[in-house]
Amino acid sequence: MCGIIGYIGQNKALPVLLDGLRRLEYRGYDSAGVAVCDGQEIITVKAVGKIVELDKKISLENKSLQGNVGIAHTRWATHGKPSLENAHPHCGCKQEIWLAHNGIIENYAELKKLLEKKGHKFLSETDTEVIAHLIEENYKDDLKIALQKSLKLLKGAYGIVVMHAKEPDTILAVKKGSPLLVGLGDKETIIASDVSAIIRYTDKIVYLEDNEIVKVNKAGFKIFNSDYEEISKEIKKVEIDKNEIEKSGFPHFMLKEIFEQPKTITDSVRGRLVLSEGKVKLGGLESVQEKLREINRIIIVGCGTAYNAGLVGEYMLEEYANIPVEVEYASEFRYRKPILDKNTAVLAISQSGETADTLAAIKEAKEKGVLTLGIINSVGSTIAREVDAGIYNHAGPEISVASTKAFTSQVIILALLTVFLGRQRQMSFITGKRIVEEIENLPNKINKILKQEKDIKKIAKKYYKSKNFAFLGRKYNEPLAFEGALKLKELSYIHAEGFPSGEMKHGPIAMIDKNFPSLFICPQDSVYEKNISNIEEIKSRSGKVITTATVGDENIKNISDQVIYIPKSLEMLTPILAVIPLQLFSYYMAVLNNRDVDKPRNLAKSVTVE
Ligand code: AGP
Ligand code: GLU
Repeated sequence: MCGIIGYIGQNKALPVLLDGLRRLEYRGYDSAGVAVCDGQEIITVKAVGKIVELDKKISLENKSLQGNVGIAHTRWATHGKPSLENAHPHCGCKQEIWLAHNGIIENYAELKKLLEKKGHKFLSETDTEVIAHLIEENYKDDLKIALQKSLKLLKGAYGIVVMHAKEPDTILAVKKGSPLLVGLGDKETIIASDVSAIIRYTDKIVYLEDNEIVKVNKAGFKIFNSDYEEISKEIKKVEIDKNEIEKSGFPHFMLKEIFEQPKTITDSVRGRLVLSEGKVKLGGLESVQEKLREINRIIIVGCGTAYNAGLVGEYMLEEYANIPVEVEYASEFRYRKPILDKNTAVLAISQSGETADTLAAIKEAKEKGVLTLGIINSVGSTIAREVDAGIYNHAGPEISVASTKAFTSQVIILALLTVFLGRQRQMSFITGKRIVEEIENLPNKINKILKQEKDIKKIAKKYYKSKNFAFLGRKYNEPLAFEGALKLKELSYIHAEGFPSGEMKHGPIAMIDKNFPSLFICPQDSVYEKNISNIEEIKSRSGKVITTATVGDENIKNISDQVIYIPKSLEMLTPILAVIPLQLFSYYMAVLNNRDVDKPRNLAKSVTVE
């Protein structure tokens, strides 16, 4: 999830490249770089941090970046920390081929070994650099042919722009699983990962499909399919509000990120499912794989949404990996006297990887000498560097303060960890395979729920003036009661509380009347009947009830004021589906209350203070 741009035309490339990077910066911003060809050689400048750092470096180095052919990249690291060496563009040994890449090359490690055996020397930790050396290895005298040969060896997702010093007025681009568009201007062509970098120059766009290669030079462009045949593509006119372009047409980053979840679930598990063996592959845990066999207790630490994801993980790990788990607020763990021994592991969950409380909890655990693990979305972040081993989410940057796609990614990674640890223990091949199979079905099931957006908006219209709200769930969906309440609170400023459904009768039900609505997460699972009883207790006290229920459950309509249906899934994976209605509901409650959805008052995206 990064920003890519390429330019060929009658004007200088650099201003267009830098302008494009600024518009693409929201897609990833831990480092950036440009490569410009002046007809003789390719000059590059890279910088760590935001685009403004690259601007400064370009002025400082005062290199000759006057050419009118160039590529640029703003990185969101997946392999290798944010650093100058890992910043794109990357090159081969001879520094003639330069490329930028968006995505993940799953088989980069084996390709790197093969290329090193052939004498290639690598300068970075990234998966991307392997592509540059592979094209160099295949290059004779035609960049397009070298690229086509190399693509046959790549596994994973990519958007690539590449140029060669020996073909100074040519840029090639190809995509598979990561977006790339071609903007057709007046005597200039712009290739980018998002329309926001193009719209200022032209509204004529060609959208590349997977495995299509575009070859651009000053004369124009040609597109080739995966059989190397030249094809013609429709040139589309883009109608988009220039102010909304960074949100890809969505009114808020939060709604965009809610709708990204089918893709972010796919990206989170990419290259990690081994269906044929009913197992998962977690490269980040390989170094502690044997130590994990001895672990007989896990303490999960996190804050806010990350804490709620940990609560789902507790149910998963206990039921399917037979490991006792406790989930602690990181801000509490760090001041407790936790009883830890050599067979305890402490697992930090954090989207930003910079949350002060979570970092302090991990440091406290390390002080006690126990194994520390992380489920982190931001590569190279402080917590990612502090833990002994971990698993990156690969969910892409989450811009909106209210966490949505990070939550579902954290839960799916916890499901992967459950299979990983379970299969080290008593989990059978059949059980592992069943879980892995259902994980592959989740993106389509999420799409089915997202189609109910308008219906959920209508429900929010009935409740947005509420002053209080209760969220209720049991077992795997108890944590969703807390997550749903957190979303509503932090977005709409309405007081909301999450409860285990069975707890209502022990006090909270005293609050219920016709002005105190409840939302029940009530799928047809092992505790369905218990939930039904709890709903009836609320209804008998004139409480309004919204339920999220399993598709086909007609009976629940008799005791609900509104019902939002979700597809059937394994009980342990249902939270990933059941949270979507809660996210959309809280989004529309905030919109209807005219709140600042992406930046709610008093909040920060990453709480780096105690
Ligand atoms: C969730 O919507 C909030 N933005 C907040 O609770 C967040 O989950 C918490 O601050 C933890 O952040 P982290 O995942 O980056 O550590
Ligand atoms: N996987 C590549 C890297 O880590 C590209 C990441 C991106 O899409 O920015 O450098």
